[in-house]
Amino acid sequence: MINRRLQGLCFVLGLAFLLGGSVASRADSTLYEDLGGKEGLTKIVQYSVDNYMADPRIRDDLDNINLDRLRSRFFDQFCELTGGPCKYTGRDMAATHKGLHLTVAKFNAVVEDLQDAMDKVGISSRTQNRFLALLAPMKSAVVTQ
Ligand code: HEM
Repeated sequence: MINRRLQGLCFVLGLAFLLGGSVASRADSTLYEDLGGKEGLTKIVQYSVDNYMADPRIRDDLDNINLDRLRSRFFDQFCELTGGPCKYTGRDMAATHKGLHLTVAKFNAVVEDLQDAMDKVGISSRTQNRFLALLAPMKSAVVTQ
C-alpha cells in the first residue's frame, strides 16, 4: 500500500519535473522568436541605430564610428542574449565603453530609442520588457560617470 502511494507520488513529481522543465526551456528559447527571429532583430537593430544617429542626446557619441560593424555587433549580441543561434564575438561591454564617459541619461536614451524601434516592429510590451531586463545588468559596465 505504502509502496503504491510512493510510486504514485514519484510519478506525479516526475511528471511535474518534466513538464516544468520543458515549459521553462520553451519560454527561454522563444524570446528570440518573439522578437521576430533574424528578420525582426535585423529591423530592430536597423531602426535603433537610425534612432541613435538622429537623437541629439547621443548622436555625437557615435560620431566617426563604423556603423555597419556596430549593427552587426548589436545583432550578434542581441541574438545570443535572447537565445538565438548566434555567437557574440565583439569586445566586452566595460572595455568597449570605457573612456566614453557615459551617463545614466545617455544609457536611458539608448534604451528609449531601442523601445521606439521595437514599437515600430510591432513587438509587444511584455516581450520588450523581457528583452530590456537582459540589457539592464549592462548598465554598470556602460555608465562610468
Ligand atoms: C544597453 C546599453 C548598450 C549596449 C548593449 C551597447 C552595446 C554595444 C556593442 C555590442 C558595441 C560593439 C562592441 C565592439 O565593437 O566589439 C558597442 C559599441 C559602442 N557603443 Fe555601446 N552599448 C550600449 C550603450 C551605449 C551608450 C549609452 C553609448 C553612447 C551614448 C554607446 C556608445 C558606443 C560606441 C561609441 C561604440 C563604438 C566603440 C568603438 O567602435 O570604438 N553605447 N556598444
